Amino acid sequence: MFGVRIENLHMSYGDREVLHGITLEVKPGEMFFVLGPSGCGKSTLLRGIAGLVPSAAGHMFIGETEVTGMPPYMRNTGMVFQNYALFPHLTVGGNVAYGLRLRDVAKDEIADRVRRMLALVGLPGYESRKPAELSGGEQQRVALARAVVVEPQVLLLDEPLSNLDAKLRLKMRRDLKAIQKRLGITTVYVTHDQREALSLADRVAVINDGNLEQTGAPREIYFRPINRFVAGFVGEMNIIQGKVKDVEGASVLFDTPLGTLAVSTEGVLRQGQILDLVFRPEDVQLSYKKGVSGKVVYSAFEGFQEEVSVEVDGAGVLKAFVKGKTSPMAQEGDEIKVAVEEGRIRVFPHVNHR
Ligand SMILES: Nc1ncnc2c1ncn2[C@@H]1O[C@H](COP(=O)(O)OP(=O)(O)O)[C@@H](O)[C@H]1O
Ligand SMILES: [Mg+2]
Repeated sequence: MFGVRIENLHMSYGDREVLHGITLEVKPGEMFFVLGPSGCGKSTLLRGIAGLVPSAAGHMFIGETEVTGMPPYMRNTGMVFQNYALFPHLTVGGNVAYGLRLRDVAKDEIADRVRRMLALVGLPGYESRKPAELSGGEQQRVALARAVVVEPQVLLLDEPLSNLDAKLRLKMRRDLKAIQKRLGITTVYVTHDQREALSLADRVAVINDGNLEQTGAPREIYFRPINRFVAGFVGEMNIIQGKVKDVEGASVLFDTPLGTLAVSTEGVLRQGQILDLVFRPEDVQLSYKKGVSGKVVYSAFEGFQEEVSVEVDGAGVLKAFVKGKTSPMAQEGDEIKVAVEEGRIRVFPHVNHR
C-alpha cells in the first residue's frame, strides 16, 4: 500500500494562488478527508494530486516516488468526480472497462474484472446498461467502479455523494466505507459536509481559504478544535466571554454570564484577562433547577432532538440541543435555567464578535 505526502504545496490559476502551502501526510490504506467550505481549494488539491493541474510550488509523493510534475497517466491515481463524468455513449461495462483497455489488459481479463467490480459496488449484471438509464446513486457506483478497477495506488473522491438525496447519501456513506476498507486502498476524499467527514474518516484535514487549519481524528477536530474556524465549521458553537478569576494549575476559573466556570486550558493566562469560551449546543443543559436563568426565544422540534435558544443576560442567545420528547422541553417565552458542561469548553483569544 502507498501513502501520499504533500509538502508545502502551492497551486494557482493564472496569477491567483488558491492553495497557499499545504503540508499533509496520508497513511497507507487510510481514509483521509479534506473538509472545508465551498471554494476553499478542495477540488484543486485533488487535481494537483492527480496531476490534472500543475502545482506552482512544493512537492508531492505517492509512496516513495516523487510525482511532482508527472503527467496524470504516470501517477496511478483513480478519481471520482463530483458530477461522475461517465461517458454517456458507453455502456456501464464500457465505462468500467475504459482504464483497463487503455492499459491493454486482455479481453477475457477485462470482462472478468468488470464483472467482479460491478458486483463489489452492488451493481451485478449492469454491464449493458447506459448511464442515462441509471439513478444518481447507480451512476455514482459506476464512477467508483471505473476509478477502482485499475487498482490505483490512491483513490481520489471529489464530493462523491453530494448529488444524491439525503437517504441514499447515508446508505452510500456506509457502502463507500465498506468498499474502501475491503479494498484497503489509500483514499483522499474531499467534501464540504462535516457529517460525512466525521462519520467516515480515519483522519480529517480542515482547510479554509487555501490554508490547512487542523489535521486530526474526527473526535479530535470535533472536541478539540484548534481555533474558532474549525470549531464553527465542524459543528455549531456558542461563544461567551470569560474573565480569568483564578488559575489553579491547568484549571482556570472564569467569571462568565453563566457563573463561575472551571476550564482546563493550554496557554498561560493571567488574572483579569478576557477570553472567549466556546461550547457546542449539545453541551448546554437546560432545566428548571440548575444554572443561570434565561428566557426561551426559539424552540424547534426536529425529531431526535429539539433545538432551544435561550437568551441569557450578558451572554446573548445560546443554542441548546436536547433530546426530542413527546412533550416540548420548553416554549418560547418560558423562563429556564442554563448550565454548560465545563469539560467541553474550549478557550480561544477574545475577538469582538458582536
Ligand atoms: N479552472 C479554474 N480557473 C480559475 N479559477 C478556478 C478554477 N477552478 C477553481 N477556481 C477557483 O479556485 C478556488 C478554489 O476552487 P476549488 O478548488 O474548486 O474549491 P472547492 O472544491 O473547495 O469548492 C475558487 O475560488 C475557484 O473559483
Ligand atoms: Mg470542489
